[in-house]
Amino acid sequence: MAEKNLVVANWKCNGGAELVDSYLKAFLALEGTDVVVCPPVIFLTQLQALLRKNVSLGAQDLSTFEVGPYTGDISSEMILECGGTWTLIGHSERRALHQEGQAEILQKLQAANRVGLKTILCVGETLDHRRSGSAEEAVLSQLDILIEANDSTLFDNLTIAYEPIWAIGTGQTASPSDAQSMHARIREKILSLSDALGDNLRILYGGSVSADNCGSFLNEDDIDGVLVGGSCLNVSEFEKIVRICGAC
Ligand code: PGA
Repeated sequence: MAEKNLVVANWKCNGGAELVDSYLKAFLALEGTDVVVCPPVIFLTQLQALLRKNVSLGAQDLSTFEVGPYTGDISSEMILECGGTWTLIGHSERRALHQEGQAEILQKLQAANRVGLKTILCVGETLDHRRSGSAEEAVLSQLDILIEANDSTLFDNLTIAYEPIWAIGTGQTASPSDAQSMHARIREKILSLSDALGDNLRILYGGSVSADNCGSFLNEDDIDGVLVGGSCLNVSEFEKIVRICGAC
């Protein structure tokens, strides 16, 4: 739907000098795609050279706080200062491993929005939800924070990533048609809240995306890009994904 596909690399808690170097040497951006690389924030400054190749940088999380005695937190302003213009919010690993709930996720969206960081809000269902037929309800309810926020400016920089939790890091993916129908429902819900976004709302698919399978997702109408975990740790595999996204 959107004009250009968006390809996002989520390094998670991986990488070091070698991976940084391989990204700096690679040619990642291509006409027809927007590329965002989200390394651990400690590598953002080193990766700033990618900005000259039309690659944007992002963080994988951010603090709800702006400044002060919050040991270990990284604020939205700090991300901007290191060249990051994007952030992931509400990734299922943060929801599960750091007990992030809807209220905190909303505060993070607001913290990012205050400084104009672009946000990728991650949503997804468990295998139990999928098996019991409640996947759609589980995913759509994660978007309710956008209603609670009652702030139309939150939509200005919003991208959604649909990542079925059972597909993350498992080698299993949703079928392209199941992903398409979830994306269509997500789009419908967001547009019912804010039609300002129109066709510009991008909804990414994530969960075991590879160079072999990404084309089948991108051929679907409501899939506007991919969020890539494991496959982005090999820069040539990630470059292949970028090339395929540019051609779809
Ligand atoms: P994966 O991770 O590609 O390794 O499944 C995707 C993600 O969690 O963003």
